[in-house]
Amino acid sequence: MLHEKNRLKLAIPNKGRLKEPVIELLKSAGYSFRLRERMLYASCSNADLTIIFLRADDIPLLVSSGTVGLGITGQDLVQEKHAKVREILPLELGKCRLCIACADGFSYKGPGSLSGKRIATSFPKITQGFFKKHNAAVSCLEMSGALEIMIGLGLADAIMDIVETGDTLRENNLKVVEEIGSYQTVLIGNKESHGLPEVLQIKRRLEGILVARKYSMLEYNIKKAGLKKAEAITPGFEAPTVSDLDEAGWCAVKVMVEKKTVIDVMDRLEALGATAILETEIKNCRL
Ligand code: PRP
Repeated sequence: MLHEKNRLKLAIPNKGRLKEPVIELLKSAGYSFRLRERMLYASCSNADLTIIFLRADDIPLLVSSGTVGLGITGQDLVQEKHAKVREILPLELGKCRLCIACADGFSYKGPGSLSGKRIATSFPKITQGFFKKHNAAVSCLEMSGALEIMIGLGLADAIMDIVETGDTLRENNLKVVEEIGSYQTVLIGNKESHGLPEVLQIKRRLEGILVARKYSMLEYNIKKAGLKKAEAITPGFEAPTVSDLDEAGWCAVKVMVEKKTVIDVMDRLEALGATAILETEIKNCRL
């Protein structure tokens, strides 16, 4: 199965915080594959797709070299590896910032204040590029993890690391002094794979799940006189579906609403006189 030429290979993280959410996303999008302990690849039983489990930081170069046609990994790693890949779809997962952090008490006055200091990082290229751009000569210590402890251990004066919730920094009495970039997890391809019909199909399937996760379906009844105002509150993903009701002067509206606004939208519709306001979960969609 691994060497079959007509099967597309998709590399996904084999460990870390992205592993489970990526597997869940693929399964929600309809890909059926079995997971076994210590497995390195899994063949989809319902698609010509083989999932390869790799370290997230190896994925950008394996995609750019064409070893695998597709990959799911962080934009931060793509940038760090200078990988020539095509970004196909941001996946709304693993959102994080790459930051410089110092001890709480450190008096930071711009990148120059770290001149001559030691910066621990697993992003050496981005780090060197950043300090070079700001004419600050630092010594960069390349490490593969647990960077936050390096300042306490006396090995580094600052770190350049990923911050998601900020909990690890706080627990180690560190503070962000500079934000270098914002990233998320993306589906990537290379110049051979990115335009293939089967890749477009994977993209559309994943997009369907991402939209379904973001939106709820809202249904309500409203007097036609209030419809314009209601539509202004619920413009929908494209446009709301409006149908007449038996009761004269009333109509029913069906519309997609962003989940994070739905409670507020329901309050506003009720205040406008809407009745039978129902929110339902969207499992999957194609728009
Ligand atoms: C990353 C990063 C930080 C931590 C930040 O490590 O290197 O240590 O997450 O997250 P927080 O802001 O939510 O506390 P990760 O746990 O992914 O493991 P790693 O060290 O193996 O990269």
